[in-house]
Amino acid sequence: MEPTAKLYQDLDRILVTREEIAQAVRSLGAQITRDYEGKDLVLLCILKGAIVFFSDLMREIDLPVGTEFMAVSSYGSATKTSGVVQIRKDLDHDITGKHILIVEDIVDSGVTLSYLKKHLTGRGAASIRIATLLDKPAGRRVELKADYVCFEIPGDFVVGYGLDWNEKYRNLPDIGVLSPSVYA
Ligand code: IMP
Ligand code: MG
Repeated sequence: MEPTAKLYQDLDRILVTREEIAQAVRSLGAQITRDYEGKDLVLLCILKGAIVFFSDLMREIDLPVGTEFMAVSSYGSATKTSGVVQIRKDLDHDITGKHILIVEDIVDSGVTLSYLKKHLTGRGAASIRIATLLDKPAGRRVELKADYVCFEIPGDFVVGYGLDWNEKYRNLPDIGVLSPSVYA
C-alpha cells in the first residue's frame, strides 16, 4: 500500500516512514543477535500491537529463537490507558532458564510493561528485557526503561505498523499521527 492510498487521508501526517522502520528493525536485529549469542532466547510478542514489528524483527535475528505470545489489555478511553491491566492470554510454555525479550509496539505510561515484568518475574527466566518500537517518554506515569528502543516520539497518538485506534489502522505500512477529526 502506497502513502497515496485512501487510508492515509485519515492521517494528519506521517511520523516514521516504512524505510526508516525497516532500517531501524534491521539494526536492532543485528544488535540482538550480538547480545544474545549462545543464549537461549525467547521473543515474547505482546498482542496485538506488536505483531508487525515482531514478525519483521524476528527475521532480522540470526539465532534459533523461540516465540511466545501474550495478550494484555488496559481499560480506558481509546487514546489513554486506565492503569488497570488484565492478562487475556498467558504464556504457553515454561520459561525457566530462558532469556525473555518482550517485544512491544509502544511504551507510553509504562503501566502495561511494568505490570507485565512483575507478572513474569519469579517464573525462573534467566533474564527479562524489553524491546519497543516506539517510546513516548512524555507519557510516563511509572518508572520504566526499555532496553531497546527504535524511535523516541512526541506525545501524539499514533497509528500504523501494528498500532491501532479502536482496532483500526494496524494495516498502515508507515506510522502516522491520526487526524483529531477522526476521533472527535
Ligand atoms: P502504556 O501502558 O501506557 O505504556 O501503554 C501501552 C499500550 O497503550 C501500548 O501497548 C498500546 O497498545 C497503547 N498505546 C499507547 N500509546 C499509543 C499510541 O499512540 N497509539 C496506539 N496505541 C497506543
Ligand atoms: Mg498494545
